[in-house]
Formats: sequence, structure tokens, C-alpha cells
Amino acid sequence: MKVPFVDLKAQYESMRDEIEVAIRQVLDSTAFAGGPFVTQFEREFALFCQCDYSIGVGSGTDALWLSLLALGIGQGDEVITVPNTFIATAEAISFCGARPVFVDIDEQTYNMNPALLENAITPRTKAIIPVHLFGQTADMDPIMEIAKAHGLYVIEDACQAHGAEYKGRPAGSIGDAGCFSFYPGKNLGAYGEAGAIVTNNPDLNEKIRILRDHGQPKKYYHTLIGWNARMDGLQGAILSVKLKHLAHWNEARRKNAQLYNELLANVDGVFIPREADYAKHVYHIYAIRVQNRDALINTLAEKGISCGIHYPVPVHLQEAYHFLELGKVSFPIAEKCAEELVSLPMFPELTKEQIHHVVHEIKKLRSSEICVG
Ligand SMILES: Cc1ncc(COP(=O)(O)O)c(C=O)c1O
Repeated sequence: MKVPFVDLKAQYESMRDEIEVAIRQVLDSTAFAGGPFVTQFEREFALFCQCDYSIGVGSGTDALWLSLLALGIGQGDEVITVPNTFIATAEAISFCGARPVFVDIDEQTYNMNPALLENAITPRTKAIIPVHLFGQTADMDPIMEIAKAHGLYVIEDACQAHGAEYKGRPAGSIGDAGCFSFYPGKNLGAYGEAGAIVTNNPDLNEKIRILRDHGQPKKYYHTLIGWNARMDGLQGAILSVKLKHLAHWNEARRKNAQLYNELLANVDGVFIPREADYAKHVYHIYAIRVQNRDALINTLAEKGISCGIHYPVPVHLQEAYHFLELGKVSFPIAEKCAEELVSLPMFPELTKEQIHHVVHEIKKLRSSEICVG
């Protein structure tokens, strides 16, 4: 039995008619760049995140970068984040001219360890970017408290956490801004590139809107030097259709995770994901930890089961960030997790049979081969 890592085709097949109507509406109206379909989606997504404003942009990377720019972060500033994230989190900091400063993660949730924040703060620190990795939020209360005490901004990297909750509050709605990616494989994925920022701050909303559109509040009148980071109309219309299904898809992911958890609970050498008391996890990624990860991935691949690694090299050890001069053992938990994490197939349409098959093949491996350290 083949088990893909994600199956975008299955999702499209389940909603083909709705999508085709939405696409035709955009084609008929020729509202291709920005326009009413983007505005409509912005309204709906703000509501979904329980925020006053949502701004559609070209990608999650744009969302992070424009949020930092709009908050005035630049040359000489430092922004604290985690090393076990997709590189875009750090790139956005670097592209403002600021320096990424990393803190290690919590070994249970793989998210920022707030107890390590105080030590990382310097007079140059301007902001903190917690990353809600794999679909589970970071522990936001202590992060917000420390930020408040030091006068720092908090930008949530919620690119993997559409619909996740922290103590009942939607991911992205807690900090000064929440940034989302709608890369096709995300829980809410576009049919191309797209992203959004949510915020309750009217000034920030205004500034990001201007920055994403060449710095123009009015066509051809440029008050700022901005960029072209607009969301396109087709993505806006498609995302509006898909947003209606998101809660249901997230529930399906949670059920799939629960079944994996039950079946893997007593398998020697397999460390299953932990849902924190404060969290509603939406399992963008279902990652287990094992030793000898390569053997597991290769054996499953031979059986037609595709896995992923998120992420094999933490950001501070990437060649692009050698200039930070942070060698190995700088962030031991993030580094250990980078060696042990394996992402198993996870998508809403995954069947019980497929999950049983994946677990059956994992169990067949000798436990000695995949012991957790
Ligand atoms: C944690 C995280 N941050 C940022 C991004 C960047 O989003 P995008 O690919 O839409 O630019 C992603 C997407 O992969 C992500 O997972």
C-alpha cells in the first residue's frame, strides 16, 4: 500500500466543483492582482483568527519580513527566535538588516523555551518571534510577559499553525502580529504562493498594507519605499473556499494523530508528539523521534511510505548563517531533535488503513535499530 507524505490531489478532488466556480469568478472579473477576492478573504481570515485586521501578501516569508519592517526593525537590531524552524523565519530578520539571535527549544513541544529568553535579551533586542512548530503554539503567556517587561514586540510565526489554539485563543492573535503561510501543503494551502498577517493594531495594519503595495496608499502616490508583496486574486478566491473546510480538516488531522499516538504508544524507541496542556495542536506535521532515523525512513520508503524531516539542519548550523559563528552544541536540544525527528504521513484524507500500515511497518523494524536516546 502506498502512503504519500501529503496528498493534495485527494483534497482537490473532494472540492473540485467549488474551486472551479471560484476560479471562474476571478477569470470573469479579471481581478488578478489584489482586488475584491483578496479583500473578501482578508475579512474572513481576520474573523477566523479573531483579529481586527488581516493583510494578504505573497508568502509567509513576506508576512514575517513586512511585519518586522513595519515595526521599524532594521540595521543594528536583534530579534530572538528558535533555530529549529524553516529558514524563512531567520531570513526575514536578516532581510530587514537585523541579526537573528537564537534560544533553544523545549524537548517536549519542540517550541521556544521561555525560560531561556531573559539571557538572550540585550540592549539591541527589539522583538521575539516564537514559531508555532508543527501546528502547536509556543507557550505564549511567559513569552508575552517577558516581552512586556523589556518593551519588545512579539511576532508569531504561525506559518504552520492555522486554527491552532493557545488556552482557547487562535494562533496568531496573541502577539503584535501573527504571520501565516498558505504554501500549498499547509493546513490552509493556496494553489500557488500566498501568506497573510493578522493584527489588532490599526497603525500596523495600515503600514503593512502600504508596504506590500510599493509604499502607495493611493495609486502612484508613494509615501514609503515598499515592495510588491500583494496576494493574487486567484489565491484569495481559492483560500476563501478552502477556509470553510479548515476546521473540519484540522479535526481530521487531530483524529489521525490520536490514532498514530494510540498505535505507537508502546513501541520501544519511538517518542510520540506531546500536546501541551495549554494547546490545541493541529498537526501540520506529525513528527516522532527515533534514533537511527535514516534506517527508519529508508525502510518505510521501500514499502512505499513517504516521510519527511523537519528540519535536518538547524538554522544556526546552515552554511548561510556561518557568519554568526555559532557552532555545534550551541543549542543542544534543537540539535538533538534535528537528528532524531521523522515526520510521518499526515493529511486530513489519510485513512485508518494507511495509518495502521505505517505503524505496522515501523513495528516490524527491530526496536534496537530505532531506540530513542
Ligand atoms: C515556520 C515557517 N515559517 C515561515 C515559512 C515561510 O512561508 P512561505 O513558504 O509561504 O514563504 C514557513 C513555510 O514553509 C514555515 O513553515
